[in-house]
Amino acid sequence: MTKDGFVQAATPHSLIALADLPDGAVRSAEGEVDGIPEPLIVVREGGTVRAFLNVCPHAGRRLDWSPGNFLIDQGRLVCAAHGATFERMSGHCVAGPCRGDSLREVPVVQADGWVVLSKSAVVADGA
Ligand code: FES
Repeated sequence: MTKDGFVQAATPHSLIALADLPDGAVRSAEGEVDGIPEPLIVVREGGTVRAFLNVCPHAGRRLDWSPGNFLIDQGRLVCAAHGATFERMSGHCVAGPCRGDSLREVPVVQADGWVVLSKSAVVADGA
C-alpha cells in the first residue's frame, strides 16, 4: 500500500493483495472499469470479496474522508460527505439522503492471492 492509502497493483487489473485485505477490511483501490480509471472500494468478509465504485449515489462524491480512510459505524460504511450509510458487503444504502439506492458493484475475482477486476468489469458493454 502506498503512503496515500492507495494499493499498488501487481497487474493492470489487480486491485489489492488478499494479504492486505484482512477479514472485515474496507480498502480503496483504483481500477479501469469499462475503460475508465475509477476509484474503488474493496471489502472482505471471510472468503467473500466485493468491490464497488467509490462514488456515492447521493451526490457523486467519494465515500472516504481522505484517500483510503473510511468511516465505519457498527460495521456499516458511512459516506463522509453527508452521512449516507451502506451495508458493507451489499453496498445497499440503509440510512441517509440516498436510502434505498446502492453503490455500483464492480465484479471481481480472486486469483493467485489477488483481488482482480473480472473481464466483464474491464471491457465496456459492446466492446
Ligand atoms: S455524497 Fe454521499 S451522502 Fe451525500
